[in-house]
Amino acid sequence: MPGVVVVNTNPYEGQKPGTSGLRKKVKVFLQENYTENFIQSILDANKDAIKGSTLVVGGDGRYLVKEVVDKIIKISAANGVAKLLVGQNGILSTPAVSCIIRKYKTLGGIVLTASHNPGGINNDFGIKFNCSNGGPAPDHTTNDIYALTTAIKEYRIVPDLVCPIDKIGVYTFTVEDRQFSVEVIDSVSDYVAYMKEIFDFPKIKTLIQGSEQRKPFNVLIDSMNGVTGPYVKKIFLEELGASQKNVTRITPLEDFGGAHPDPNLTYAADLVTAVKNGDYDFGAAFDGDGDRNMIIGRDAFFVTPSDSLAVLANHLEHIPYFQRSGVRGYARSMPTAAAVDRVAQKSGKEIFEVPTGWKYFGNLMDAGRLSLCGEESFGTGSDHVREKDGLWAALAWLSVLAATGDSVEDMLNKHWKEFGRNYFTRYDYEECASDPCNEMMQALEKTMTAPGFVGSAHASGGKTYVVKLADNFSYMDPIDQSVAMKQGLRIIFEDGSRIVMRLSGTGSSGATVRLYIDSYEATDVSGDAQVMLKPLIDVALQLSQLPKYTGRDAPTVIT
Ligand code: G1P
Ligand code: ZN
Repeated sequence: MPGVVVVNTNPYEGQKPGTSGLRKKVKVFLQENYTENFIQSILDANKDAIKGSTLVVGGDGRYLVKEVVDKIIKISAANGVAKLLVGQNGILSTPAVSCIIRKYKTLGGIVLTASHNPGGINNDFGIKFNCSNGGPAPDHTTNDIYALTTAIKEYRIVPDLVCPIDKIGVYTFTVEDRQFSVEVIDSVSDYVAYMKEIFDFPKIKTLIQGSEQRKPFNVLIDSMNGVTGPYVKKIFLEELGASQKNVTRITPLEDFGGAHPDPNLTYAADLVTAVKNGDYDFGAAFDGDGDRNMIIGRDAFFVTPSDSLAVLANHLEHIPYFQRSGVRGYARSMPTAAAVDRVAQKSGKEIFEVPTGWKYFGNLMDAGRLSLCGEESFGTGSDHVREKDGLWAALAWLSVLAATGDSVEDMLNKHWKEFGRNYFTRYDYEECASDPCNEMMQALEKTMTAPGFVGSAHASGGKTYVVKLADNFSYMDPIDQSVAMKQGLRIIFEDGSRIVMRLSGTGSSGATVRLYIDSYEATDVSGDAQVMLKPLIDVALQLSQLPKYTGRDAPTVIT
């Protein structure tokens, strides 16, 4: 009978979960007891509920996932957890973890991912705790976890417990007279079964394979060597009748084959090129852990995530899940362009503006007030789970395209004609030095809150913008009244245009500055976003003095 060992340890600094869990370089996690401390703190944050509980464990297949799954098994066994549901070989996409937590009503789950950050021994790893609703732990829980990491003195482990995770099955152990079991589950089956309930697979299959009315709709689905590979294989190749030429990079690799698994125009350039040069009607890419998506149409026509959200919001009636449950409200994160707000207005539904991070949508969904939400950062999802869901977004788009018979580009043109267009761009300045970025944010906040700033005029490129409101965004959750302060600097002008600036909370080193620009045009809808937004970008750079503080004259990524 394997025995429990209590290991003395010392706290590590900086184990504070960010926008989405604890993310650091692999080498940081490899330090003695670093990972163990954090896992013990997650379990302790659940207090007595951990005893006899069931947890879901899985990750995106990156370097270190399997080793950390093994640690979680050994530490859970020692802490009185009754059962773990572990994805085979440690593989579970982030939305699949959320789905499984909800389906089997577990206490929560531990997701091993650094999402869209590169993987491999020299890159990133991450650990995230999700609660019983399937969603990322809210601030008060992550604060508890962090507080525990700062005071931890020991952790409990069963070092001799050996459990295979490569074979599906139930493995049972006796630890201190308690039963402890690990069920290694198929990584994709629960999730795929759920997608088949949500969507009309035969309709999407007809779209992809073609019919008398319509020639085959040629898709290209790119998993970027991340966790969605096996899900794409099952859904697209086995269920929807697609062929090998419709899928790419569908084997999860520990280092994502050197790719930066973030589905945007910069890092998913291979998909963009393939769709541009090939005879494709639709392209979709997903990030490392499968929660992000990018959608493009024929000739690589790009759909901004803010527009994607709005178009889906306007067509949810084509999806069986919403036919059954109806559509409650919509929501978006604050920096996301306000296109969906106009759809909400038309349909008379509630719309919520929350801080950056999916965890802020959870309460609204649990309260039955939110059906569809999204972020400009390539996140789209619904209340079917409590994470954003890349594959779900692609299937939602295909459902809508099947029902309307339109091309992706037609869908957008029709949408803009009806609602007007929110031009949007985001500039990312990655891995800058932290101190000057913090100074820049402080200085900008000071400028923005100085007397006379509201009402001041800023001119550039023949346009003049008058400030209507300037603040550091704060949010009170309408369900539990919790308050999140300092969620990003925003300057809103009289014409509704916005400049938003915030520092990333997901990076593993240095600082990443995100500059978001959003401007609405009621009728001038066919312009180029970068050209249309240039004057506002210049105003933002002037006001923030970003080039001076960061030493950068161009962003790393433009979306
Ligand atoms: C980024 C995105 C944010 C998203 C998060 C997790 O966070 O901006 O919308 O929820 O990744 O995918 P950030 O690095 O900006 O804190
Ligand atoms: Zn992700």
